[in-house]
Amino acid sequence: MNFKEQIDPVKLPQHIAIIMDGNGRWAKKQGLMRIRGHEKGAKAVRDVVEGSAEIGVPNLTLYAFSTENWNRPKVEVDTLMKLLVSSLKKEITTLQENDIKLKAIGCIETLPKKARRELEEVIKKTSGNSRMTLTLALSYGSREELTHVVKEIAEKVASGEISAKAIDESVINKHLYTQNLPDVDLMIRTSGEQRISNFLLWQLAYAELYFSEILWPDYRKEDLFEAIYNYQNRERRFGKTSEQLS
Ligand code: IPE
Ligand code: IPE
Ligand code: MG
Repeated sequence: MNFKEQIDPVKLPQHIAIIMDGNGRWAKKQGLMRIRGHEKGAKAVRDVVEGSAEIGVPNLTLYAFSTENWNRPKVEVDTLMKLLVSSLKKEITTLQENDIKLKAIGCIETLPKKARRELEEVIKKTSGNSRMTLTLALSYGSREELTHVVKEIAEKVASGEISAKAIDESVINKHLYTQNLPDVDLMIRTSGEQRISNFLLWQLAYAELYFSEILWPDYRKEDLFEAIYNYQNRERRFGKTSEQLS
């Protein structure tokens, strides 16, 4: 089935978030080092980013490195950071050609200086693009994000900038790293794992979850189109009854 042709352009998810998982297992299956899986994973990123822009998804967020991933062997962490720098250098043209704006969420200040500098440069260079916003979650953990939000709001209450009574969901939204992004409509995780792993806990509140058995390095835009088609055939009730929706 050609899923792309079946997709309804007026019912596109406004925000897709992906947990790109399975690089290590992909490499192991081929008898390769884990890092080879990460390298192949970078190719999948390009394909999926292009596919998203192609069909008109306005926001795509990719989980690239979690706060917990710092606990991996140092050599793997170091190579992942180097891969981040080389991918940013290489993909800037793809982003410009496709009119894509790059953003980052997470503890960006904890990344190595080189990665931070490259990231800031690409963010700046693509800031005028408007077809799609691509957000990379780097050194990102949802509990860290929420802790940061609570601290910021608490400081504002202490200084009298806002009153405790005025805190509502929109105030919280405005303090999240994702402050300018809409809620996630569709969350995809590859590699068969069915968990959230500290990703966008608040923002996923009403997201449709889609789990694929495909290992991330093998994931392609056609697989994304299949996930979107599946999403479009679900009924999102937001607490209401089915009858209320029709
Ligand atoms: C996802 O693939 C990439 C990162 C977390 C950086 P993994 O490296 O987690 O691959 P598996 O889960 O070990 O197969
Ligand atoms: C989640 O994948 C983080 C990223 C994809 C960047 P992991 O492979 O680190 O997740 P867990 O620890 O197995 O849940
Ligand atoms: Mg994994």
